[in-house]
Amino acid sequence: MSVWLFSLSSLGCMNPYENKVIDESRQGEVLVMEKPPIAAKKFFLESYGCAMNFSDSEIVASILAGKGYSSTTNFHEADLILLNTCAVRDNAEQRVRGRLKEYNIAKRKNSKLMIAVLGCMAERLKSQLLEEEKIVDIVVGPDAYRELPNLIESIEGGQKAVNVLLSLEETYADISPVRLDSNGVTAFISITRGCDNMCSFCVVPFTRGRERSRDPESIVNEARNLFERGYREVTLLGQNVDSYVWANGKAKKELSEDEMKNVFTFANLLEAVAKVSPDLRVRFSTSNPQDMTDDVLHMIAKYENICDYVHLPVQSGSTEMLSRMNRGYSREKYLERIAAINKIIPNAGISTDIITGFCGETDQEFSDTLSLMNEVRFDFAYMFAYSERPGTIAHKKYKDNVLEELKKTRLQEVIALQQKHSAERTKQGVGKVHRVLIEGVSKKSEERLYGRNSQNTVVVFPRQNFKKGDYVNVLAKECTLATLIGEVV
Ligand code: SAH
Ligand code: F3S
Repeated sequence: MSVWLFSLSSLGCMNPYENKVIDESRQGEVLVMEKPPIAAKKFFLESYGCAMNFSDSEIVASILAGKGYSSTTNFHEADLILLNTCAVRDNAEQRVRGRLKEYNIAKRKNSKLMIAVLGCMAERLKSQLLEEEKIVDIVVGPDAYRELPNLIESIEGGQKAVNVLLSLEETYADISPVRLDSNGVTAFISITRGCDNMCSFCVVPFTRGRERSRDPESIVNEARNLFERGYREVTLLGQNVDSYVWANGKAKKELSEDEMKNVFTFANLLEAVAKVSPDLRVRFSTSNPQDMTDDVLHMIAKYENICDYVHLPVQSGSTEMLSRMNRGYSREKYLERIAAINKIIPNAGISTDIITGFCGETDQEFSDTLSLMNEVRFDFAYMFAYSERPGTIAHKKYKDNVLEELKKTRLQEVIALQQKHSAERTKQGVGKVHRVLIEGVSKKSEERLYGRNSQNTVVVFPRQNFKKGDYVNVLAKECTLATLIGEVV
C-alpha cells in the first residue's frame, strides 16, 4: 500500500468557533492518506468561519481525493483554488473578497487556474460572484459538495458551474472526512446540518438550509474509527445540537406524538459516543437555551469522558431584545438553564456568544447584558458587534439603527468585563489538579506541552516524557488570563 502526504491550508477564521475548537496549530495541516493520487491536478483549499465549515472542508478534501486530486499548500502551484466561506458577518465576506482579488491576479498569469467559492457566501450570493462580478469559476453551496468533481469537469468543457441547491436529506454520512488537523488527537464530527431556528439576525438558516440529523450509527462508527486511529477527543457539531433527533431518517415534523416519545435524542447520542471508550473525550457545540434538556446535563454528569463544558449562546441579557432576536427564551429562562448546569454539573465550564448593538438596543437593554454577564460569570465569550445580513428577518423587519460607533463602544465594554470574568474563572483553577488530554507542544516553549482540562481551559506544563494523546493529571500552580500553568503529579 502506498502512502502519500496530503496537506491543506486554512486561513485564520472570523467566526467565534475558531477559538473554541480550532486553534492556530490546526492551520496548514499535514496528514497521511492511504490512496495515491492518480491525476496530477492539485488543489489549494482555504477555510473560513465556523467549526462546521472546517469540518465540511474535510468532506470536500475527501471528495476531491477520491477523484485523484492531490493538494498543495502553495496556491501558486494549484490548478484549483477553493475558498470555503462564511457569511455570518460582513467582515467575514470582506476578507474572502480580499483573497479573491489576490487569486484573480494569479489567474491573470495562469488562465487555466480555476477558482471555486464554497460554503455560506456561495449560498448567499449564488451566481453573483460568477455572472455579475466574474471573479470566480465555480460556486458550490454547502449541500452540493458531491457535485464538485462534475462541476469542475463542466468548466473544463467551457461551461459556467453553479450548484447552490439546498437539500432536505444531505448529511454526507457515508463520506469519510480527510482529517485536516495536524494534532491527530482531536477531531470534529458533524451530527446535524442546517438550522430551523430563524434567529432574526442570523443568515445561517438561509445559507445552510433546513435542519437534518445524521444517522447515529454513522456518527458512532466515525468516532470509533477515530479512536482506533489514535484520536482521543471528538467534538460533535451542529448549529443546535440539542435538536438532534433520529427516527430512522424521518424528519421531526413527520413524527406523531407517540413516535416522538421513542426517538433517539442528543442525550442518547452523547451516551452512545461516550461508550466508544472511556479514553475518548466527547465535546459538543453548540447548545441552545430553548432546547437544552436536563437529560443532556445528566448524561454529561454520568460519563466522566463527556466534558464538563457547555457553550450556551445568550446573545443578550434583555428579554425584550431576545424577543426581537427571535431566540425563543427570556433572560429568566436562560438563567434557569445556567442554574441547571451548575446544579447538575458542579464546576462546569460555561461559555457564550454575545451581540452588541442589535436593532433598537437601548442603554437599559445593553446594561441588562452586562448584568447577566455579572450574574453568570462566563469562563469565555465570543463577542460581536451586530452586522446586518441581507435577507434575514431583522433586515426585513427592523432598522439597523444603533450607530456603528456605539456598537463598538458597547462591544469594548463587554469585552473588558468578560476579560475580568475569564481571569477570575481561570484563577479558580489554581491549586487544583486537572485531568488534561495532551494536544501538543506549547507554542511558546518547546519544553512545554499543552492540553485542555474537561472545562476546556488550556493547561501548560513541562514536557518530560509525555506525548500528545496522553492523559495526565496536572496540579495548576499559576495562571495567565486564560491559561493554567502547572506540573504533572
Ligand atoms: N447556532 C450557531 C450560531 C452560528 S453563528 C452555533 O452556535 O453554532 C455564531 C454566532 O455569531 C452567533 O451565536 C451570534 O452570536 C453571532 N452572529 C450571528 N449572526 C450575527 C450577525 N448578523 N451579527 C453579529 N453577530 C452575529
Ligand atoms: Fe443562527 Fe440561531 Fe440557528 S444563531 S444558526 S439561527 S440557532
